[in-house]
Amino acid sequence: MDRNVGVFDSGVGGLAVLAHLHRIAPGLPTIYVADRRHLPYGEKSEQFVAGRAHTLTKNLINQGSAVVTMACNTASAAALESLRAGFPETRFVGMEPAIKPAVLASTAGVIGVLATQGTLGGRLMVRLEDALGADVRIVRQVGHGLASAVEFGAENEEQTIASLAEHVNALRMEGADTLVLGCSHYSFLHDSITELTGGDVTIIDPSEAVARQIARMASEVGIGTEDAMGTHRYLTTADPAAVATRIAALTGVETTVELVSW
Ligand code: DGL
Repeated sequence: MDRNVGVFDSGVGGLAVLAHLHRIAPGLPTIYVADRRHLPYGEKSEQFVAGRAHTLTKNLINQGSAVVTMACNTASAAALESLRAGFPETRFVGMEPAIKPAVLASTAGVIGVLATQGTLGGRLMVRLEDALGADVRIVRQVGHGLASAVEFGAENEEQTIASLAEHVNALRMEGADTLVLGCSHYSFLHDSITELTGGDVTIIDPSEAVARQIARMASEVGIGTEDAMGTHRYLTTADPAAVATRIAALTGVETTVELVSW
């Protein structure tokens, strides 16, 4: 079995990272898992999400993944440390709210972080604030319902845009001039946020930087990229046909999706 890069998320949010990865390193074999049966992670307990992260990782390793990426802020906040301890042979890439680049970008010194309850309520956020919050004010906003809207294809519906506007305005009212997308699903709301703010807010989306980090790590551990086009598998824990439709809509990739009972 080919060694590969495993990438997982609660659903289709991590596809933004994956699309960058395929562009940067098209020869890299990848397996993407959408854990749609257990979405939304952001409203589940830390213990539950960490359990899912361990189960998905174990199965990805059995499928040859030597680098495992959590393209999910909520899962990274809940499980990154315990995964590194539990699977010492495997290299991990996680996602966290990109506050550092936001500090550099903000002129007002106020940064808005839009993320799930799980990410904003966890220890990771406290650590980030301790490390980076001395010179700026960090304002948190839970993106209620936004991940599910993206997951199920409602990202452009009136109700979603209204709710997004409410969330973004709450952060602007606090003076935020820089907005960190702290949930991978929100990458697919980037254009709507730009439209809503008339370009007045700097949006920080870490997807491409995370993809570059994965490509670097894959090359460090010698995962093959010699083929012009690596094998790109897509798995889901629920609704393979619906997930295939979303993959096509969000990334333009026409693919079959395998159902797994992980
Ligand atoms: N995409 C995930 C993240 O980055 C969470 C979405 C969910 O709540 O399932 O946090």
